[in-house]
Amino acid sequence: MKIKTKRLIRRPATFNDAADIAMNANDIDVTRYTAHVPFPYSLKNAKDFTQLCRKRKSQKSCDDLNFVIEMRSEKKVIGCLGFIRIDYFTGKADIGYWLSKNYWQQGFAFEAVNALIKFAFTTLKLQRLEAAIYIENHASQTLVKKLGFKKEGIRHRASRSRATGVLHDVLIYALLKPGKCK
Ligand SMILES: CC(C)(COP(=O)(O)OP(=O)(O)OC[C@H]1O[C@@H](n2cnc3c(N)ncnc32)[C@H](O)[C@@H]1OP(=O)(O)O)[C@@H](O)C(=O)NCCC(=O)NCCS
Repeated sequence: MKIKTKRLIRRPATFNDAADIAMNANDIDVTRYTAHVPFPYSLKNAKDFTQLCRKRKSQKSCDDLNFVIEMRSEKKVIGCLGFIRIDYFTGKADIGYWLSKNYWQQGFAFEAVNALIKFAFTTLKLQRLEAAIYIENHASQTLVKKLGFKKEGIRHRASRSRATGVLHDVLIYALLKPGKCK
């Protein structure tokens, strides 16, 4: 499902997005603080990712849902975001996101993740979103705080970056759907 915001389109990945994804993700500054994105990031990695997204999209209920972020004015994919470990029974999911370095600090992640949150609470009917952020990742912490997430705690040595192999302490941030839980 496509969602348009002022400057962006959030949509499922297609095979044609692989080149943009590989170009943007093949950057240690982008991948360093992520748990699942490898470095170096090859065109084959990107093709496998788009294939996985299509497979997941075709499944009725799926634990992970990934999307690309397309810049409307340039018609180019500038990043990815999505849900990890969706638990429909409890109504919760983790979120993940990354953007090409060329587009940092221009409010694009705020715009894209804000739309993802609305989708989670209205369309997926989730109650709780979690962001697990490496303690060193100040950009991501600032982003989620601005989106209304609250820090709930820390998990020590809880995640190893796939890109660097470094083990990180992880801060847990959560956002609850406004109103009473159902
Ligand atoms: C985290 C990330 C998505 C933020 O993207 P972004 O488009 O630069 O974020 P925004 O421009 O929407 O900024 C949101 C807020 O965070 C702040 N911010 C962004 N980068 C920052 C940085 N490096 N240091 C401190 N604050 C930062 C912005 O200033 C803004 O706050 P403000 O409005 O009060 O000024 C981007 O840095 C990224 O892709 N990083 C690599 C991948 C990654 O770490 N993913 C998250 C894993 S948990």
